[in-house]
Amino acid sequence: MGERDATFRSRTLRQVGVAILLTVAACKPPPDDRVSPSADAVERGKAVIERVSCGSCHVIPGVDWPRGRAGPSLEGFDDAGLLAGALPNTPANLAAFVRDAPAAKPGSTMPAMPITAAEAQDVAAYLYGMKDE
Ligand code: HEC
Repeated sequence: MGERDATFRSRTLRQVGVAILLTVAACKPPPDDRVSPSADAVERGKAVIERVSCGSCHVIPGVDWPRGRAGPSLEGFDDAGLLAGALPNTPANLAAFVRDAPAAKPGSTMPAMPITAAEAQDVAAYLYGMKDE
């Protein structure tokens, strides 16, 4: 194999890599395709967020206090392509992540939270339903 072949091949691989990244980024469904969360789930989710104080680490629209900054602001989070920069932003991934971030995303610095799987789904409903300030 000549040097030119090797260069060509690595360039092709790079292009394939970029194409895969673009495909993953495009995977987020448009907002209309998302299951719209029920008002009850949104209310319950907010109560869970307040009970376990997600706000101690995050600025969260609709949660006035606390508004910690150890974690990223969740404003506009629902429009982000990737959850925590790593996972497709789907309701199932979000629920898994907010309950046990290190299990959902190895190496995540967000600690596992003391909430049930059902509560995690309500929290996800709140986070997708919130209006940014
Ligand atoms: C001790 C601080 C802390 C607490 C408490 C905490 N988080 Fe986090 N959170 C973080 C950190 C740090 C990150 C970034 C982790 C990463 O990227 O893996 C994060 C990331 C996130 C993300 C991804 C944000 C994005 O831009 O993609 C969401 C959503 C989230 N947290 C929701 C919650 C919810 C809901 C709760 C409460 C159930 C909560 N967090 C409690 C520290 C915290």
